[in-house]
Amino acid sequence: PLFQQATYLKSAPNLGSCPEDVGYEVAFAGRSNAGKSSALNVITSQKSLARTSKTPGRTQLINFFTCDEERSLVDLPGYGFAKVNINVKKAWEAGLAEYIEKRTALKGLILLMDCRLPPTDIDIVMLDWTKALDLPVHVLLTKADKLSKNQAQASLFKLQAMLKEQYPHATAQLFSSLKRQGLDQAWAKLEGWMNY
Ligand code: GTP
Ligand code: MG
Repeated sequence: PLFQQATYLKSAPNLGSCPEDVGYEVAFAGRSNAGKSSALNVITSQKSLARTSKTPGRTQLINFFTCDEERSLVDLPGYGFAKVNINVKKAWEAGLAEYIEKRTALKGLILLMDCRLPPTDIDIVMLDWTKALDLPVHVLLTKADKLSKNQAQASLFKLQAMLKEQYPHATAQLFSSLKRQGLDQAWAKLEGWMNY
């Protein structure tokens, strides 16, 4: 498929150091440890494109992966990592906000949420920001392998009901990087946003 050509381009600490703002970009966001880097690896069919870690908060920069001349995937810093200094945390959040608000190439946001946990305050903030910016969001409810089929479905239905009511710019699906569950659906969303 389309994203196997993805290669690491660069890591930027802020919007000013990002690559040229052209083409199509889709970013992956979510709380630390939600499984962003794992999902990126599975979606690009690469074992260790984005660094994965058992220590939350490892991805602290905006990481760019080039798919072709006009398309990139972006691994954003995980938010809400408790063990980080408050000023560091604030700087990350400001950097995230700036990237999401001002990046013209950004066509959609993949928001990762652990299917076992309720959305965090900052997940809600992300949904509010993107709604105001009219930026489409697709939620991957990750680690679906950790729940029974019924529990996972219930978690999806609950989220979808909330999105339908308050965040019609957002869609959602179950996903497991471990079991490669939900890949076709995730690919289809990315292909649509990236104008393949
Ligand atoms: P930060 O970079 O710290 O923000 O984290 P991240 O969101 O990139 O999470 P990462 O992909 O590094 O995964 C965090 C942990 O969850 C790792 O131990 C992964 O192996 C595990 N994990 C990720 N996805 C899945 C999944 O689908 N199923 C299961 N069972 N574990 C997963
Ligand atoms: Mg990561």
